[in-house]
Amino acid sequence: MLSRLISSTRGIPERNDVPAHIAIVMDGNGRWARKRLLPRVAGHKRGLDTVRKVVKLCVDQGVSHLTLFAFSSENWRRPADEVSFLMQLFMQALREEVKKLHKNNIRLRVIGDLSRFDSELIETIRSAEAQTGGNTALTLSIAANYGGRWDIVNAVNAMLASCPEKRGAYTEEDLAPHLCLADAPEPDLYIRTGGEQRISNFLLWQLAYTEFYFTDCLWPDFDEAAFAQAIDSYRKRERRFGRTSEQLAGGSDKQD
Ligand code: FPP
Repeated sequence: MLSRLISSTRGIPERNDVPAHIAIVMDGNGRWARKRLLPRVAGHKRGLDTVRKVVKLCVDQGVSHLTLFAFSSENWRRPADEVSFLMQLFMQALREEVKKLHKNNIRLRVIGDLSRFDSELIETIRSAEAQTGGNTALTLSIAANYGGRWDIVNAVNAMLASCPEKRGAYTEEDLAPHLCLADAPEPDLYIRTGGEQRISNFLLWQLAYTEFYFTDCLWPDFDEAAFAQAIDSYRKRERRFGRTSEQLAGGSDKQD
């Protein structure tokens, strides 16, 4: 079966030089600011400039899906004023950027548990999603109050509600359609800036066979050259999806 949505544990997804889907943990904003004796929030502001640049790079290079971790379910543990600043930045960005996103044929959506956000923010999100819903150049998913475990538990509950009679016989295929990124190919490349090497409860299910790229570069410094380096590293990976190198060399990586 030749499908861009093929599950990495059920089949062999397509392998291209340009990743179809990039997922990014944008880490290091606070440290970027501290190094300059600025408040941490100044780093988040600069981080938003990097978001704009990376979105453009993805469109230019033909990446079809970009998923950014903007606010995790654990980020509520931060100081209240930083949380509040991030919410305002998010709201402002949605308001200011949606026109430009739409003009550039970019579909925006927000994934995560929105129930903790105030109603004005939820309305702004829904309206931006509705306005850009038909766009096809890039799907930009912003993970906000998102957690990989939340996503899975949420999907399990939805699956149980949708086919309760299957008790004890559920498969991956039953669960997968209920996950947040069900309509996207699994990420080919996961990038984490800021020097840490962990997933931090990002896309736990979806990262099953994703290539990981960690860089010390702080998110506000992540520029075109840093992006090119990540893509270059990805291109050099041998994506075996459980098979051996010999099988790949023998040409057994054909799609079925
Ligand atoms: C992690 O850096 C970054 C965040 C928790 C927030 C990311 C937000 C943005 C880049 C701006 C808003 C984005 C959108 C899409 C509207 P950190 O604060 O953990 O940095 P540190 O590790 O240096 O402290």
